[in-house]
Amino acid sequence: MFKRYNWCYKIFDFPKFNKKIIEQIRNLEPITYHYTSLHRDISSDTEYNHLLLKRWQAPRSVENFIKKTLPAGYHEIGIQVIGDGNTAGGHGAHSDKTRSFSFLYLIDTGGNNVQTRFFKEKKKPLYRKNFTVITDYSKIELVDSVIIEPFKWYLLNQRIIHDVIGIEGIRKSITVSYHKCPIN
Ligand SMILES: [Fe+2]
Repeated sequence: MFKRYNWCYKIFDFPKFNKKIIEQIRNLEPITYHYTSLHRDISSDTEYNHLLLKRWQAPRSVENFIKKTLPAGYHEIGIQVIGDGNTAGGHGAHSDKTRSFSFLYLIDTGGNNVQTRFFKEKKKPLYRKNFTVITDYSKIELVDSVIIEPFKWYLLNQRIIHDVIGIEGIRKSITVSYHKCPIN
């Protein structure tokens, strides 16, 4: 049965990664960064850097920990990095392409005021198809916003249009992707 999920995010009190694993992930540097195009909001004629989102496969230690910590049903575990530490910017409004929900565990915030914002497109449902991309912000309305804290489990609804703004440094997280909602 098709179900729309109209919550943007939830916080869970699942066990945290130990320091050894966090260090291991931090040491995955260096990686090569490059940028996708400038993202443009045509409604205000504003251009801002659409920072590259880079992902790579999580080490085995992370996989093992996730397996005993999170609900089953995920199809991918990745380390996700946004930004290179030199260029400020964010990630334009979209719904995700390859997942509908994800658990996110932030390791480095990439700035003190990085906001994840959720939007509803006017006259459209909140819960959208995968890979809906918005370039005109006058068509969407803010419904929720969160400054995600590090070392905490968040479940994000990636089918609701969202963006990320205010990245100044490197934003690094562990993310676990699901096609179906992992909770009841
Ligand atoms: Fe996303």
